[in-house]
Amino acid sequence: MNTFQFQNPTRIIFGPGTVDTLAEQLAEYGKRVLLIYGGGSIKASGLYDQVQSQLKQAGAVVHELAGVEPNPRVSTVRKGIALCREHQLDFILAVGGGSVLDAAKAVAVGVPYEGDVWDFLTYKAEIKSALPLGTVLTLTATGSEMNGSSVITNWEENLKKAFGSIHAYPKFSILDPTWTFTVPANQTVNGIVDMMSHVFEQYFSLTSDTPLQERLCESILQTVIENGELALKQPDNYAARANLMLCGTYALNGGMISVGMQNDWASHMIEHEISAIYDIAHAEGLSILFPNWMKYVHKERIDRFVQFAVRVWNVDPAGKSDEDIALAGIQATRDYFTRIGAPASLGDLKIDGKDLERMAKETVRYGPVGSFKKLNEEDVRQILELSL
Ligand code: NZQ
Ligand code: ZN
Repeated sequence: MNTFQFQNPTRIIFGPGTVDTLAEQLAEYGKRVLLIYGGGSIKASGLYDQVQSQLKQAGAVVHELAGVEPNPRVSTVRKGIALCREHQLDFILAVGGGSVLDAAKAVAVGVPYEGDVWDFLTYKAEIKSALPLGTVLTLTATGSEMNGSSVITNWEENLKKAFGSIHAYPKFSILDPTWTFTVPANQTVNGIVDMMSHVFEQYFSLTSDTPLQERLCESILQTVIENGELALKQPDNYAARANLMLCGTYALNGGMISVGMQNDWASHMIEHEISAIYDIAHAEGLSILFPNWMKYVHKERIDRFVQFAVRVWNVDPAGKSDEDIALAGIQATRDYFTRIGAPASLGDLKIDGKDLERMAKETVRYGPVGSFKKLNEEDVRQILELSL
């Protein structure tokens, strides 16, 4: 296990009816609020009205940034920053899925910065401060509710990039699983794949002597596998939605499950370049890529893949070589993704090979990616080719 520091400052308020604590939470922060949300799901579900009533109870002055896109755009973030400056807002409230939360974080760090917020996504400037931010989560997937990361798309340049900062952690996140009952099947599938992928990025590590971390990862994966299928069959099954929600938050909250372990993240970086050009859902790209990444790298550390196959997918190791066990685990991952309805190839999304070179080049713009196996441009191109 490596030396590590771990800090996570986000307060989690979990359970049915917890939106009713919003006014109380706001009392600790500013009263001039920018309310950020997406394309209307919160109005359809009735959550918008409940949030407004809490804001009223808190005596807040409210301005709105509506219409945040899935794969949120830097042009929308800039509008939010301008609204905060124009109306001297001092608190940001994000109500929605990962895209809304990520846009809100970018607004929060962008307001006190004199330059353009895109500088933070391209390593041109360091984040030194942010407006305080709170969230009400409506979709279980990204972990954005309890981490300091944000992923933003620059559509004009076809770039999708991320930043991470301790200043961007939400002060609080309200997680009421009942608001996820309305998440449609395809977005539920996306959430399942994204959460599992976050665990993969941490679990497939060259670091040794980390049995607790490995078992935390394995138990999250098993909990997602079981409850994911249940939530798809019964969208309003509270226990299934609640278990998924907790898994999503644990899977990516500043690395709690993988403290002292080297993480990989190459598959995420490759995926972001696919979304940047084709505007597909993040998890659709991950579903296509991850089993192919696994096939490409598994020989780097076969024992971890054997453990994954046996402990997570219950592959029977009797009479099989390590290679066969590892490949059976990878196939079980692909089969599960297919069973729940996630895509298996770029062709499934009508994407051909014409942009492979471009995506591979952009993935390694700042150098080789990943750590389980360091991938150069040619490696990335080969994984993309396997994914056609
Ligand atoms: O826009 P609205 O109308 O709210 O509809 C959304 C959107 O169309 C809908 N939705 C959300 N909650 C709903 C609902 N529909 C019905 N009922 C509800 N309760 O779902 C659609 C997708 O929402 P989105 O926020 O885009 O999904 P997700 O949470 O999967 O976020 C994806 C974004 O997060 C980034 C991805 O790259 C992508 O841009 N990521 C962020 C990370 C982070 N901050 O740590 C890490 C991830 O790896 C990921 O890269
Ligand atoms: Zn992800």
